[in-house]
Amino acid sequence: MIVLGIETSCDETAVAVVEDGRRIRSNVVASQVQLHRRFGGVVPELASRKHVERLLPVLDESLEQAGLPLTRVEGIAVSHGPGLVGALTVGVAAAKGLALSLPRPLIGINHLEGHIYAAFLSEPEIEFPVLALIVSGAHTDLVAMSAHGSYDVLGRTRDDAAGEAFDKIARAMGLPYPGGPELDELGRQGDPTKVALPLPMPDGSLDFSFSGLKTAALLALRKANHPSDGQWAVDLAASVQHVVAKVLVNKTMAAAERARPRTVILVGGVAANSVLRARMEQACAGKGYRLVIPPPALCTDNAAMVAAAGDYRFGRGLRDDLALSAYSDLPLGRRTERLPA
Ligand code: KG4
Ligand code: ZN
Repeated sequence: MIVLGIETSCDETAVAVVEDGRRIRSNVVASQVQLHRRFGGVVPELASRKHVERLLPVLDESLEQAGLPLTRVEGIAVSHGPGLVGALTVGVAAAKGLALSLPRPLIGINHLEGHIYAAFLSEPEIEFPVLALIVSGAHTDLVAMSAHGSYDVLGRTRDDAAGEAFDKIARAMGLPYPGGPELDELGRQGDPTKVALPLPMPDGSLDFSFSGLKTAALLALRKANHPSDGQWAVDLAASVQHVVAKVLVNKTMAAAERARPRTVILVGGVAANSVLRARMEQACAGKGYRLVIPPPALCTDNAAMVAAAGDYRFGRGLRDDLALSAYSDLPLGRRTERLPA
């Protein structure tokens, strides 16, 4: 099946064409980073307006790269939350218009489910049960999957997401938005033991909390009075990534003891982080779990992951109608599959 995916939940306008849930024919992402950078973060209203401007050109580009006309598309999949409601509305309205006019079946995809399917795109032969760690700008979720479409949330953040903590600490250090990749780059030559930071929520729970770490880093910055481009900042970048990766890996291993997965997957924008990737690889190799981490371009927001998730849903006979909400804040774990009447 040829599925067109649309993703506009935050500051990426993205359209992709994916065949049979695994072959990426095109994956076009127009980033709005330059637009939001001067504000230090995403401005929701500007993001919505930019999506309106860019979506149709990105759609054309995606079809051109895929080498097929719109009429060859067999289904439309669109992110419908969680995310910025105005931004999501643009993608969902476009998806409905295409579904109605072509006409083709429509499916709304939970954005986090999309992130999970980036792993199935990069490695189609994934064996269940799966344990997924989804780490993005707004979410840090540990999810057990017994089969396609079946999600059991074992733990999630009680406050900030890992990506949000990275972005806010980086911003206080004077680094440009988004801060995660900047910290990744800066910390490479750093000593992760130089700046003492608390390990976030080291208790036995599978939930996360990153706001204390953020405050500790901001206090250290204020007290240190070091220039933000000196070796101390490099060490701080390394130290922050060290504690975040440590707690993410430790809790994933604790969840794995419970869920006994055949495959561990690491997805979401923060899964592009080099420290986290390396630590998770070490830990899974030590315990004998098969680990799948998509390439960095499929970890950060894109529409190929949305199209892939759509393919699996279409394959199970699922469809949405034109009443599809542009804002679904249903948590993955409580998402129920509605089969057509
Ligand atoms: O999944 P994503 O692209 O968008 C959301 O759904 O939120 O994730 C964006 C987050 C941002 O917080 C960004 O700083 C972080 O992913 N990120 C990284 C890296 N690349 C993106 N964090 C750490 N290291 C990276 N290399
Ligand atoms: Zn995302």
